[in-house]
Amino acid sequence: MCLAFHRSWPLALMLVLLVASCNLSDCYDPMDPNGNITITFDIHKWTNDGYVARVTVQNYYQYRLVDKPGWTIGWTWANAEVIWSMYGAFATQQGNCSNHMFQVPHSCKKDPVILDLTPEAAPENRTEGCCQSGLLSAWSVVPSKSFSSFEIQVGGLGKMTTVHPPVNLTLLGPGPGYTCGPVSDAEPTVSSDIGGKRKVQVFRTWKSTCTYSAFLANKSPVCCASLSSFYNPTVTSCPMCSCGCSEAKQNTSSCISPGNAHPNSRDDTDVLQCTDHNCPVRVHWHVKNNYADHWRVKLTVSNYNYKRNYSNWNILVQHPGFNQSSKAFSFNSTMLPTVGFEDEVALFWGYDSYNNELLQANHDQLGSVTTEILLEKDADSFTLSNGWAFPRKIYFNGENCQMPLPDTFPMLPNHDVGLHPPPLGFLLLLTLLSLKQLLD
Ligand SMILES: *[C@@H]1O[C@H](CO)[C@@H](O)[C@H](O)[C@H]1NC(C)=O
Ligand SMILES: *[C@@H]1O[C@H](CO)[C@@H](O)[C@H](O)[C@H]1NC(C)=O
Ligand SMILES: *[C@@H]1O[C@H](CO)[C@@H](O)[C@H](O)[C@H]1NC(C)=O
Ligand SMILES: *[C@@H]1O[C@H](CO)[C@@H](O)[C@H](O)[C@H]1NC(C)=O
Ligand SMILES: *[C@@H]1O[C@H](CO)[C@@H](O)[C@H](O)[C@H]1NC(C)=O
Ligand SMILES: *[C@@H]1O[C@H](CO)[C@@H](O)[C@H](O)[C@H]1NC(C)=O
Ligand SMILES: *[C@@H]1O[C@H](CO)[C@@H](O)[C@H](O)[C@H]1NC(C)=O
Ligand SMILES: *[C@@H]1O[C@H](CO)[C@@H](O)[C@H](O)[C@H]1NC(C)=O
Repeated sequence: MCLAFHRSWPLALMLVLLVASCNLSDCYDPMDPNGNITITFDIHKWTNDGYVARVTVQNYYQYRLVDKPGWTIGWTWANAEVIWSMYGAFATQQGNCSNHMFQVPHSCKKDPVILDLTPEAAPENRTEGCCQSGLLSAWSVVPSKSFSSFEIQVGGLGKMTTVHPPVNLTLLGPGPGYTCGPVSDAEPTVSSDIGGKRKVQVFRTWKSTCTYSAFLANKSPVCCASLSSFYNPTVTSCPMCSCGCSEAKQNTSSCISPGNAHPNSRDDTDVLQCTDHNCPVRVHWHVKNNYADHWRVKLTVSNYNYKRNYSNWNILVQHPGFNQSSKAFSFNSTMLPTVGFEDEVALFWGYDSYNNELLQANHDQLGSVTTEILLEKDADSFTLSNGWAFPRKIYFNGENCQMPLPDTFPMLPNHDVGLHPPPLGFLLLLTLLSLKQLLD
């Protein structure tokens, strides 16, 4: 499905269309229409009862990452396959291997569930491209860490001459939300040998493509946006209860007032600083300066969670102003291709070992990362009125940030001279006066 949005369509209509275009199977992110996670089985060796395959999980999402605790992959074998051995990952259950007398398989489950090894895995259990605890970076952010690979030796097929791909592939990344297509035959994967002078190809390649749907994931929001400007002292805060305000939540001790003692419970539940928005992450957009040819924004991302760091975070901002050249001073950035959108989409992330880790809050302060962005002005479209200078959409790690309603945006003061051309009424008055002079 392809949706082209016209700038004159009201936001509400666009939202209705977006929601309407999103049913169980084909709800995709219009800002990353080709995004997917592709799982590839490359068979590169036959054995007397099966094959050896390299399995690669490649994240092709531009800004959606697979975060802690990492991916989980599962499938169902089409026949009586067993996994003799595995490198770079492991099956969570061995299953019933009681009819294997001489050699014990790694897993005899009909529907094995696979997890990645940690970076500390022993050298003898590793394989190339493995062992990142199941974490996958977003493709546009750190391409070299956007995939993981492991190796499986599959047997138990006896003297069968045909092999069949596994069925019903599943991916948790880490939670629900992904739907995987059938594992089917694809062009054999080709790689280079002898310094690129020779091409070698695997015997057989099977692929499955998994796509994410926020509807299926059914997650509570994790992020909200707040806005401010140099021309109005009002700060538009995140909408109340952006990330939910259930009664149950308020009664538990999962929210701690600022300045109170550091939480010391050891379980894995999130502990947030108490706020009106209840979100673990807030993105603040401040319109800071208006120069002759440029304008400047300060972008700040704050972490309200006392027990969670966000590694390799990213922020996506949709704003028409990004069709001019722009420069972020403290974040790495790129522009994403936009299909059917008039507003440009910029992606920001931290610099390695400088600010690519959004640290947890502590009792003194929130965790935060910040940058200033200098944008060139397009004389025809730039304006400070009608909230034009504020983003249309913000995503944090691929999750939509709840935006304040446009009628609450910081407004341009009426009497301000020099920020915008003289009002129409004034021109009309001048014209009438000149007309009167002519008639007199
Ligand atoms: C998955 O993503 C890659 C990269 O964007 C693209 O080339 C490929 O066609 C996609 N696969 C499917 C089935 O959409
Ligand atoms: C394990 O598998 C064997 C042979 O496939 C079967 O006879 C046995 O009952 C199974 N054991 C259990 C506990 O399921
Ligand atoms: C390495 O593999 C061996 C055999 O598959 C297994 O017994 C051992 O537990 C593995 N070690 C680690 C650290 O995963
Ligand atoms: C910016 O990101 C690109 C892509 O991940 C990376 O190659 C480059 O090294 C990054 N720059 C810095 C200064 O971290
Ligand atoms: C695969 O999933 C479908 C639908 O859930 C189910 O009907 C089918 O039995 C499954 N196949 C196997 C081999 O488990
Ligand atoms: C939360 O606390 C209020 C009063 O403090 C109480 O009336 C309400 O029943 C509690 N809700 C839950 C879900 O425990
Ligand atoms: C977050 O990072 C800080 C500093 O590196 C570290 O002390 C802390 O233990 C980390 N928190 C978690 C939950 O991993
Ligand atoms: C940027 O967008 C404005 C209006 O949306 C348009 O008038 C202008 O030509 C665009 N500039 C570039 C460089 O694409």
